[in-house]
Amino acid sequence: MIHKEVAQIISISKNMVVLTGAGCSVESGVPDFRSPSGWWNQIDPRTVATVKALETNYPLFHSFYTTRVNHLRKILPHAGHAILARWEQVGHIKLITTQNVDGLHQAAGSSHVQELHGSIKEFRCHSCRKATDEEAFVNERPCQCGGKLRPSIVLFGENLPNDAWQRSMAAIESADVVMVIGTSLQVHPVNQLPFITKGKLILINAEETGQEDRFDFFLRGKAAETLLLIQHYMEK
Ligand code: OAD
Repeated sequence: MIHKEVAQIISISKNMVVLTGAGCSVESGVPDFRSPSGWWNQIDPRTVATVKALETNYPLFHSFYTTRVNHLRKILPHAGHAILARWEQVGHIKLITTQNVDGLHQAAGSSHVQELHGSIKEFRCHSCRKATDEEAFVNERPCQCGGKLRPSIVLFGENLPNDAWQRSMAAIESADVVMVIGTSLQVHPVNQLPFITKGKLILINAEETGQEDRFDFFLRGKAAETLLLIQHYMEK
């Protein structure tokens, strides 16, 4: 069974990198983006996830991210996040690099996490970049400079945080295993990252992404369920 084989590979890995996407948070109750129930099937990303959207229709931008910020207050990590934190603790995982902005890996106890698309738990002024807090953003206070407040996420058209990008590239280049979880692999440049590794490539995803051929193992299934099954074989 393929899960057993993957469990054996992880058991001897000391250098694994995990790349996660929105599908890794779905079992915590966070919608992904491109599934039928995902955000981008409810609202056009061009109207809320671009710099132009922020600058030209701030009320819609603000209302979309306030909904997400408020919703995330009630969200907790799931068993899959906990397994990844444990694999870091026992020395298998050296880095989690994530497209997710929800902070769930850190909430589960992972300490080596790079956020490639920023964080929706941090806020700043769009104009002067001064850091602010959630309360100021939710209550639509302007910055002292008069600028608009926003979450510190990466909008379409903005650069990825360079430090997170460089650290993720370096870790993946030298990884013995790269596990990709819950991403459609549609968004550039993160969708290129896994393939720079010389290590084994594992994909866990609820559905096919069209990139299965580029992986050594494709485990079709939900993130938490699949990680629990792998963990089960690692304990045997
Ligand atoms: P997507 O919504 O594009 O892809 C999520 C993938 O996870 C899909 O292929 C689903 O089939 C799969 N999936 C859903 N539920 C799952 C589960 N329980 N377990 C495993 N897989 C599951 O999300 P991302 O690839 O993360 O960017 O999207 C990339 C970026 O596009 C996001 O970071 C966001 C978005 O625009 C920004 O906001 C900058």
